Amino acid sequence: MAGEQVVRAEGLRKRFGSHTALDGLSLSVPQGQLYGLAGPNGAGKTTLIRTLCGLLRPDEGEAHLLGWRMPNTRVRSQLGYMPQDFAVYDDLSVIQNLEFFGELYGLHRAHVRGRADGLLDLVQLADRRRDRVGSLSGGMRRRVSLAISLLHKPRLAFLDEPTAGVDPKLRRSFWDYFSALAEQDVTLVVTTHLVEEAQRCHRVGFLMAGRLLTEGTPDEILAQTGKTNLDDAFIELQERREVKS
Ligand SMILES: Nc1ncnc2c1ncn2[C@@H]1O[C@H](COP(=O)(O)OP(=O)(O)O)[C@@H](O)[C@H]1O
Ligand SMILES: [Mg+2]
Repeated sequence: MAGEQVVRAEGLRKRFGSHTALDGLSLSVPQGQLYGLAGPNGAGKTTLIRTLCGLLRPDEGEAHLLGWRMPNTRVRSQLGYMPQDFAVYDDLSVIQNLEFFGELYGLHRAHVRGRADGLLDLVQLADRRRDRVGSLSGGMRRRVSLAISLLHKPRLAFLDEPTAGVDPKLRRSFWDYFSALAEQDVTLVVTTHLVEEAQRCHRVGFLMAGRLLTEGTPDEILAQTGKTNLDDAFIELQERREVKS
Protein backbone atom coordinates (compact mmCIF):
# COMPACT_ATOMS: atom_id res chain seq x y z
CA MET A 1 0.00 0.00 0.00
CA ALA A 2 1.72 3.14 -1.17
CA GLY A 3 1.55 6.03 1.25
CA GLU A 4 0.59 3.85 4.20
CA GLN A 5 1.91 5.16 7.52
CA VAL A 6 3.60 2.01 8.80
CA VAL A 7 4.65 3.74 12.00
CA ARG A 8 2.08 5.91 13.71
CA ALA A 9 2.50 7.16 17.25
CA GLU A 10 0.37 9.71 19.07
CA GLY A 11 1.22 11.53 22.28
CA LEU A 12 3.63 8.95 23.69
CA ARG A 13 4.60 9.64 27.26
CA LYS A 14 6.89 7.40 29.29
CA ARG A 15 8.21 8.09 32.76
CA PHE A 16 10.87 6.24 34.72
CA GLY A 17 10.24 7.34 38.30
CA SER A 18 10.32 11.13 38.24
CA HIS A 19 12.19 11.23 34.91
CA THR A 20 10.15 11.80 31.76
CA ALA A 21 11.86 9.88 28.96
CA LEU A 22 9.13 10.50 26.34
CA ASP A 23 7.23 13.73 26.65
CA GLY A 24 4.11 13.48 24.51
CA LEU A 25 5.84 12.42 21.31
CA SER A 26 4.05 11.85 18.00
CA LEU A 27 5.61 10.33 14.91
CA SER A 28 4.56 9.01 11.50
CA VAL A 29 6.72 7.12 9.04
CA PRO A 30 5.38 6.09 5.62
CA GLN A 31 6.21 2.84 3.90
CA GLY A 32 9.63 2.67 2.27
CA GLN A 33 11.08 5.56 4.20
CA LEU A 34 14.56 5.52 5.68
CA TYR A 35 13.95 7.53 8.83
CA GLY A 36 16.84 8.66 11.01
CA LEU A 37 16.47 9.33 14.71
CA ALA A 38 19.18 11.68 15.90
CA GLY A 39 19.71 13.34 19.26
CA PRO A 40 22.11 13.44 22.19
CA ASN A 41 22.61 10.59 24.65
CA GLY A 42 19.64 10.25 26.95
CA ALA A 43 17.31 12.01 24.49
CA GLY A 44 14.92 9.04 24.53
CA LYS A 45 15.74 7.33 21.21
CA THR A 46 16.00 3.82 22.66
CA THR A 47 12.93 4.34 24.85
CA LEU A 48 10.99 5.49 21.80
CA ILE A 49 11.98 2.43 19.78
CA ARG A 50 11.22 0.04 22.63
CA THR A 51 7.85 1.70 23.14
CA LEU A 52 7.00 1.58 19.43
CA CYS A 53 7.92 -2.12 19.30
CA GLY A 54 5.65 -2.83 22.24
CA LEU A 55 8.46 -3.78 24.63
CA LEU A 56 7.66 -0.87 26.94
CA ARG A 57 4.15 0.25 27.74
CA PRO A 58 3.67 4.00 27.41
CA ASP A 59 2.01 5.81 30.34
CA GLU A 60 0.01 7.78 27.80
CA GLY A 61 -0.50 7.73 24.07
CA GLU A 62 -0.51 4.90 21.60
CA ALA A 63 1.57 3.36 18.85
CA HIS A 64 0.48 1.54 15.70
CA LEU A 65 2.88 -0.48 13.57
CA LEU A 66 1.73 -1.76 10.17
CA GLY A 67 -1.79 -0.86 11.17
CA TRP A 68 -1.75 -2.82 14.43
CA ARG A 69 -2.09 -1.19 17.82
CA MET A 70 0.98 -2.15 19.85
CA PRO A 71 1.76 -4.33 21.67
CA ASN A 72 0.59 -6.97 19.21
CA THR A 73 2.28 -10.31 18.57
CA ARG A 74 0.90 -10.49 15.01
CA VAL A 75 3.37 -7.81 13.94
CA ARG A 76 6.34 -9.88 15.02
CA SER A 77 6.86 -11.80 11.77
CA GLN A 78 7.09 -8.52 9.82
CA LEU A 79 9.08 -6.55 12.36
CA GLY A 80 12.86 -6.44 12.71
CA TYR A 81 14.46 -5.01 15.82
CA MET A 82 18.13 -4.61 16.53
CA PRO A 83 18.46 -3.53 20.16
CA GLN A 84 21.20 -1.14 21.23
CA ASP A 85 22.12 -3.66 23.94
CA PHE A 86 21.90 -6.53 21.55
CA ALA A 87 21.96 -10.14 22.67
CA VAL A 88 23.82 -12.89 20.87
CA TYR A 89 24.87 -16.28 22.20
CA ASP A 90 28.61 -16.38 22.80
CA ASP A 91 28.76 -20.16 22.98
CA LEU A 92 27.18 -20.62 19.58
CA SER A 93 28.87 -20.02 16.25
CA VAL A 94 27.78 -17.18 13.99
CA ILE A 95 25.67 -19.47 11.80
CA GLN A 96 24.20 -21.24 14.84
CA ASN A 97 23.09 -17.88 16.21
CA LEU A 98 21.34 -17.12 12.93
CA GLU A 99 19.71 -20.57 12.95
CA PHE A 100 18.62 -20.20 16.56
CA PHE A 101 16.99 -16.80 16.00
CA GLY A 102 15.61 -17.99 12.67
CA GLU A 103 13.77 -20.75 14.54
CA LEU A 104 12.35 -18.16 16.93
CA TYR A 105 10.99 -16.31 13.89
CA GLY A 106 9.52 -19.62 12.67
CA LEU A 107 11.85 -19.92 9.67
CA HIS A 108 13.00 -23.26 8.29
CA ARG A 109 16.66 -24.03 8.65
CA ALA A 110 17.09 -24.32 4.87
CA HIS A 111 15.56 -20.88 4.45
CA VAL A 112 17.87 -19.42 7.11
CA ARG A 113 20.89 -20.94 5.40
CA GLY A 114 19.86 -19.46 2.05
CA ARG A 115 19.31 -16.05 3.54
CA ALA A 116 22.38 -16.23 5.82
CA ASP A 117 24.87 -16.23 2.95
CA GLY A 118 23.81 -12.83 1.68
CA LEU A 119 23.55 -11.28 5.13
CA LEU A 120 26.92 -12.63 6.26
CA ASP A 121 28.46 -11.19 3.10
CA LEU A 122 26.84 -7.87 3.90
CA VAL A 123 28.22 -7.76 7.43
CA GLN A 124 31.54 -9.22 6.21
CA LEU A 125 31.47 -12.26 8.45
CA ALA A 126 31.14 -15.00 5.84
CA ASP A 127 34.62 -16.31 6.68
CA ARG A 128 33.80 -16.34 10.40
CA ARG A 129 30.49 -18.22 10.11
CA ARG A 130 31.75 -21.26 12.04
CA ASP A 131 33.54 -19.26 14.74
CA ARG A 132 32.13 -18.92 18.23
CA VAL A 133 30.53 -15.52 18.64
CA GLY A 134 32.36 -15.18 21.96
CA SER A 135 35.64 -15.09 20.03
CA LEU A 136 34.57 -12.07 17.92
CA SER A 137 35.18 -8.38 18.58
CA GLY A 138 32.39 -6.11 19.84
CA GLY A 139 31.86 -4.59 16.40
CA MET A 140 31.63 -8.04 14.82
CA ARG A 141 29.09 -9.19 17.42
CA ARG A 142 27.03 -6.12 16.60
CA ARG A 143 27.17 -7.13 12.94
CA VAL A 144 25.87 -10.60 13.86
CA SER A 145 22.99 -8.89 15.67
CA LEU A 146 22.22 -6.78 12.59
CA ALA A 147 22.15 -9.91 10.39
CA ILE A 148 19.77 -11.58 12.88
CA SER A 149 17.38 -8.64 12.91
CA LEU A 150 17.04 -8.77 9.10
CA LEU A 151 16.94 -12.55 8.75
CA HIS A 152 13.18 -12.87 8.27
CA LYS A 153 12.96 -10.07 5.66
CA PRO A 154 10.95 -7.72 7.84
CA ARG A 155 8.76 -5.05 6.21
CA LEU A 156 9.65 -2.69 9.01
CA ALA A 157 12.89 -2.61 11.00
CA PHE A 158 14.08 -0.58 13.97
CA LEU A 159 17.85 -0.50 14.18
CA ASP A 160 19.23 1.07 17.36
CA GLU A 161 22.74 2.33 16.65
CA PRO A 162 23.57 -0.43 14.17
CA THR A 163 26.91 1.13 13.22
CA ALA A 164 28.35 1.83 16.68
CA GLY A 165 31.90 0.46 16.67
CA VAL A 166 31.76 -0.35 12.95
CA ASP A 167 34.57 1.03 10.80
CA PRO A 168 33.79 3.78 8.24
CA LYS A 169 34.04 1.65 5.11
CA LEU A 170 31.71 -1.03 6.40
CA ARG A 171 29.42 1.64 7.83
CA ARG A 172 29.03 3.03 4.36
CA SER A 173 28.14 -0.37 2.96
CA PHE A 174 25.53 -0.81 5.72
CA TRP A 175 23.94 2.47 4.69
CA ASP A 176 24.04 1.46 1.01
CA TYR A 177 22.15 -1.65 2.07
CA PHE A 178 19.62 0.33 4.14
CA SER A 179 18.98 2.56 1.12
CA ALA A 180 18.54 -0.51 -1.08
CA LEU A 181 16.06 -2.00 1.41
CA ALA A 182 14.08 1.25 1.43
CA GLU A 183 13.95 1.12 -2.37
CA GLN A 184 12.35 -2.30 -1.99
CA ASP A 185 9.69 -0.63 0.18
CA VAL A 186 11.10 -1.80 3.51
CA THR A 187 10.64 0.89 6.15
CA LEU A 188 13.63 1.55 8.40
CA VAL A 189 13.95 3.61 11.55
CA VAL A 190 17.62 3.95 12.43
CA THR A 191 19.18 5.80 15.36
CA THR A 192 22.48 7.48 14.83
CA HIS A 193 24.93 9.90 16.36
CA LEU A 194 26.68 10.52 13.09
CA VAL A 195 25.85 13.37 10.81
CA GLU A 196 27.02 11.64 7.66
CA GLU A 197 24.51 8.92 8.45
CA ALA A 198 21.67 11.36 9.16
CA GLN A 199 22.41 12.89 5.78
CA ARG A 200 21.64 9.60 4.08
CA CYS A 201 18.11 9.43 5.55
CA HIS A 202 14.99 10.49 3.67
CA ARG A 203 13.80 12.18 6.84
CA VAL A 204 15.42 12.92 10.15
CA GLY A 205 13.83 13.50 13.52
CA PHE A 206 15.97 15.31 16.07
CA LEU A 207 15.03 14.16 19.54
CA MET A 208 15.84 15.92 22.77
CA ALA A 209 14.46 15.43 26.28
CA GLY A 210 11.77 13.08 24.99
CA ARG A 211 10.46 15.43 22.32
CA LEU A 212 10.98 15.77 18.60
CA LEU A 213 12.58 19.19 18.37
CA THR A 214 12.34 19.13 14.61
CA GLU A 215 11.72 16.79 11.75
CA GLY A 216 12.31 17.03 8.04
CA THR A 217 14.53 16.09 5.15
CA PRO A 218 18.20 16.86 5.81
CA ASP A 219 17.85 19.88 3.47
CA GLU A 220 14.79 21.16 5.32
CA ILE A 221 16.62 20.95 8.64
CA LEU A 222 19.52 22.92 7.20
CA ALA A 223 17.11 25.53 5.86
CA GLN A 224 15.29 25.78 9.23
CA THR A 225 18.52 26.44 11.06
CA GLY A 226 20.34 28.43 8.40
CA LYS A 227 23.33 26.10 8.68
CA THR A 228 25.35 24.38 6.00
CA ASN A 229 25.91 21.07 7.77
CA LEU A 230 23.74 18.93 10.04
CA ASP A 231 26.25 18.93 12.91
CA ASP A 232 25.91 22.72 13.22
CA ALA A 233 22.16 22.46 12.67
CA PHE A 234 21.75 19.97 15.55
CA ILE A 235 23.92 22.08 17.86
CA GLU A 236 21.84 25.13 16.94
CA LEU A 237 18.59 23.26 17.68
CA GLN A 238 19.96 22.00 20.98
CA GLU A 239 21.06 25.51 22.00
CA ARG A 240 17.73 27.08 21.02
CA ARG A 241 16.00 24.51 23.17
CA GLU A 242 18.35 25.08 26.13
CA VAL A 243 17.75 28.84 25.97
CA LYS A 244 13.99 28.20 26.13
CA SER A 245 14.07 25.82 29.10
N1 LIG B 1 14.71 1.33 32.35
C1 LIG B 1 14.99 2.59 32.70
N2 LIG B 1 14.89 2.99 34.00
C2 LIG B 1 15.14 4.27 34.35
N3 LIG B 1 15.52 5.23 33.49
C3 LIG B 1 15.65 4.90 32.20
C4 LIG B 1 15.39 3.57 31.73
N4 LIG B 1 15.58 3.54 30.38
C5 LIG B 1 15.95 4.80 30.04
N5 LIG B 1 15.99 5.61 31.11
C6 LIG B 1 16.31 7.05 31.10
O1 LIG B 1 15.51 7.67 30.11
C7 LIG B 1 16.26 8.63 29.37
C8 LIG B 1 16.26 8.28 27.90
O2 LIG B 1 17.10 7.13 27.71
P1 LIG B 1 17.30 6.44 26.31
O3 LIG B 1 15.98 6.20 25.70
O4 LIG B 1 18.18 5.27 26.51
O5 LIG B 1 18.06 7.59 25.47
P2 LIG B 1 18.97 7.48 24.16
O6 LIG B 1 18.73 6.16 23.54
O7 LIG B 1 18.53 8.63 23.32
O8 LIG B 1 20.38 7.65 24.62
C9 LIG B 1 17.64 8.66 30.00
O9 LIG B 1 17.69 9.70 30.96
C10 LIG B 1 17.75 7.30 30.68
O10 LIG B 1 18.61 7.36 31.78
MG1 LIG C 1 19.95 4.66 23.00
